[in-house]
Amino acid sequence: MGLWSRKSVAVLQREAAEEGEGGLNRTLSATNLTLLGIGAIIGAGIFVLTGNAAAVYAGPAVVLSMVAAGLACGFAGLCYAEFASMIPIAGSAYTYGYATLGELVAWIIGWDLMLEYLFGAATVAVGWSGNFVKFLAEFGLVIPKAWTDAPFAVDAANNFSQTGAILNVPAVILTLIMTVILVIGIKESAWFNNAIVFLKIAIVFLVIGVGFMYVNTANWHPFIPENTGTFGQFGWSGVLRGAGVIFFAYIGFDAVSTAAQEARNPQRDMPIGILGSLAVCTVLYILMALVMTGMVHYSKLNDPAPILVAVAAAGSSLAWLRYAVEIGSLAGLASVVLVMLMGQPRVFFSMARDGLLPAVFGKVHPRFKTPYITTILTGSIAAVVAGLFPIGLLGQLVSIGTLLAFVIVCAGVWILRVRSPEIPRAFKTPLVPLVPALGILSCLGLMAGLPGDTWIRLIVWLVIGLVVYFLYSKSHSHIGRGETSHHMGD
Ligand code: ALA
Repeated sequence: MGLWSRKSVAVLQREAAEEGEGGLNRTLSATNLTLLGIGAIIGAGIFVLTGNAAAVYAGPAVVLSMVAAGLACGFAGLCYAEFASMIPIAGSAYTYGYATLGELVAWIIGWDLMLEYLFGAATVAVGWSGNFVKFLAEFGLVIPKAWTDAPFAVDAANNFSQTGAILNVPAVILTLIMTVILVIGIKESAWFNNAIVFLKIAIVFLVIGVGFMYVNTANWHPFIPENTGTFGQFGWSGVLRGAGVIFFAYIGFDAVSTAAQEARNPQRDMPIGILGSLAVCTVLYILMALVMTGMVHYSKLNDPAPILVAVAAAGSSLAWLRYAVEIGSLAGLASVVLVMLMGQPRVFFSMARDGLLPAVFGKVHPRFKTPYITTILTGSIAAVVAGLFPIGLLGQLVSIGTLLAFVIVCAGVWILRVRSPEIPRAFKTPLVPLVPALGILSCLGLMAGLPGDTWIRLIVWLVIGLVVYFLYSKSHSHIGRGETSHHMGD
């Protein structure tokens, strides 16, 4: 009992249907949800990390890394879609865990999701800041480095050193602006998100369309450069390592599931939003990787703005595209921050509803109908993290945390099919148990490729979570107290 107690799917479905006073506003359509997913997905991964993956690990075969990471996410996405259509609750993986693996595991996933959403927002804000500072510098506006960088750096050997900087101010400001937009309202946020997503998709299409005309196919040979003798440096092991790096680019499709309680027709629209956004981005990523490695030799792509390197290689005839790419990256990264900051409070909302966090975490603003207290809390913590930590450390932590959530969701779908096959599922993951099993294996494979220090940080984070659970949540859990239904304090 206690640690392993589960929340029945029937209770969860009743909660999902509950509306009215104190509830979130149901305004999002299938299109909004798909755009929300794309808003969260296309960001630092494609605009920043692809170049590094191509230049250092995979060469032109970064295209295959894209396919591999996309497949792993596809398996996980199919599992998310089943859960999100069956239990459309803002808690996402946390709630699915509660229904299948019990309270302790649910808590661990809920805590783990902070790595994906809160730290994810901070990571991308740091990436945005780097791009923004460079963009301003082109117009002669230079902000002193002390105010645009993290105060310390971490090298590959895990040594921390001081950078001399004080705070990454642009990253802090962006995070706070997004927080304000989110407090004002989900609908306003969706409009803002849609506009920005259209802009970034348009620019991705533009680069792909124009870029294809400048491809020199000689750059694609050899497609899989020969391995250097070290695991992960080109060859097939390089494709794998590249997939681990590129995985970050796909994170975000699952954020759609945190908007389940704000969807007009979640049973039908959740799977569309999750799988639609993932499919669109997978195709765009593969094309983008082909274009980038075709326009310029992969060895030149190890740059924080690899698309600009490819565009510059095409010569002065493409100079105009430079600004479009710069603006597209800035818009793209900002929308990722927005959606990640939107997902986190909704997970907290569900955890508070179950008593695992104080009721104040579930408070909804009377006028804006948004979980404003947790949005402000999340935004403030993310702003501090974005101001103080370097992007490399954050990015790997986000990837490992997200992969862990994916593994548990895949396992959960499988377990619930065996345990409760009779529950109606609006969307069914195909080929169970094959797809969940492949999801688990491929995500574990990507986790195995991440550095040992990242594993240690993940474990430390989870241990802190366990301390909170045993000090507070276990004794406050509604299920633990034998309450089957409850109302949130307001
Ligand atoms: N997928 C998101 C990005 O690449 C997190 O920025």
